[in-house]
Amino acid sequence: MKKIVELKNVVKTFSGAVALDGMNLTIYEREIRCLIGENGCGKSTMIKGISGYHKFDSGELIINGKHYQNITPREAMDEGIQVIYQDFALFPNMTVAENIMMIDSTTQNRRLVNWKKMKEEARRTLERIKFDIDVDKYVADLNVAEKQMVAISRAIAQEAKLLIMDEPTSALTNAEVEKLFDVVRELKKNGVSVLFVTHKLDEVIRVSDSITVMRNGKNVYESNENTLSKEDMIYYMTGKRLSEQRSEDVKREGVPVLEVRNYNLDGAFKNVNFSLYKGEILGISGLMGCGKDRLAKALFGIEPASSGEVLINGKPIGLIRRVQDALDHNIGYVPEDRLTEGLHMDHTIADNAIARIIKQLRGKYSLLSKEVVRDKQDETLSMVRITGLRRDNPVRTLSGGNQQKVVLVKWLAANPDILILNAPTVGVDVGAKSEIHDIVRDLAKRGVSTIVISDDIPEVVQVCQRVLIMENGEIASEHLVKDITIEQLEAMISGKNKMVDAQ
Ligand SMILES: Nc1ncnc2c1ncn2[C@@H]1O[C@H](COP(=O)(O)OP(=O)(O)O)[C@@H](O)[C@H]1O
Ligand SMILES: [Mg+2]
Repeated sequence: MKKIVELKNVVKTFSGAVALDGMNLTIYEREIRCLIGENGCGKSTMIKGISGYHKFDSGELIINGKHYQNITPREAMDEGIQVIYQDFALFPNMTVAENIMMIDSTTQNRRLVNWKKMKEEARRTLERIKFDIDVDKYVADLNVAEKQMVAISRAIAQEAKLLIMDEPTSALTNAEVEKLFDVVRELKKNGVSVLFVTHKLDEVIRVSDSITVMRNGKNVYESNENTLSKEDMIYYMTGKRLSEQRSEDVKREGVPVLEVRNYNLDGAFKNVNFSLYKGEILGISGLMGCGKDRLAKALFGIEPASSGEVLINGKPIGLIRRVQDALDHNIGYVPEDRLTEGLHMDHTIADNAIARIIKQLRGKYSLLSKEVVRDKQDETLSMVRITGLRRDNPVRTLSGGNQQKVVLVKWLAANPDILILNAPTVGVDVGAKSEIHDIVRDLAKRGVSTIVISDDIPEVVQVCQRVLIMENGEIASEHLVKDITIEQLEAMISGKNKMVDAQ
């Protein structure tokens, strides 16, 4: 296979800070190569070096067999390298056709442009990626996905041999991502290679022919095939096996934040007793039907217990009989089914983040100050590291994992004392899962006491500090997580079944 771009041992520093630290990369003709790596690992810096925007400090850059010491943006384009940045670098006040054919207001002899021919050529380019749009439309009037298609068409009109896309899906809806994949495959058929930069592992599996993983400024995995499992992708990206991640243990002292005594609900659970301490992450696990789900719902007043007692900070409050009781005691709940939790799908991440506290933000005469709202949104969003999420993206455009992060951020803003998470990462991809776990740990460090209901044993071991195992509606045993392994917990929960299987 012919190599289009080769990087060998490339180094790039920014005033002493190393961004690229001996990076190697090969991109072949007619391939879709996915480049993955955590935020800040150097992906964008490398792309900017290939396209002539940055100068590498040392190492080799070989394009179409030619060695370049200091490639200029012009030379990179002449070699057929086109980059689609996140802002697309289009001219909003010009038409689709003008953008594709790169005829801007500074083009000399604008009057000599053959407008009819130009539009025809723009249309032909759009046809090559099977994208149908009126070329006389102004780019300012297009949505994000349409702008992206125009940027891709422009790159093709420039005779791209290699199209580099830096996180192209972060602002797209699922349907738009599908279309983009079709276009990427169409480009490949037309003989164009694509370097697809993403941190969404499902996309890597679906679209790539080959994979390169970066960590700390260098390649740590490179393959001409697409055979890497998600677990291994995470391993190469982070250098850590998920199973090795644990939450730091906490001190369980003083008066428990929550105490549950002799809690009963006929046919669901019986004689449940436990305490939850400040900043603690307590897991409740067990086989399906063991009662943990109904216990979670009872603690939030959705399906109340019939007898027993609850103490908050040592004070008896009787039973939690309705959801409002739980809210009054500053208890939060994130259900398994996020859609019932009431994310406002058409509103932005930022608006959703503060939805739970919007009433508190109203001033005198219940006026809502734009500045107050914006400050609160910024403050809330800055509390957690949420990669790839822009505050003004509508929640509808997010993956399930990212929607779940927004649900957690909502609670972060509300500052609950106790948070009950019911199956917090069901249906969420591995990358988002570990970020959700990070958010839960962040919440705990802020003093939130958390109950994680989960039958995902690795999850329980990775995030919780203590775990209660339920069997037939009762708490069968309690364990400090630091003392047990995933395998041991698995055996304790489903050991009997396993032995039956083995026979
Ligand atoms: N123009 C710049 N000036 C200084 N530091 C930079 C610059 N661009 C990137 N960096 C730093 O280089 C590292 C790699 O960044 P980047 O290439 O943007 O990572 P990625 O695209 O993988 O998220 C980061 O530590 C970042 O802060
Ligand atoms: Mg980047």
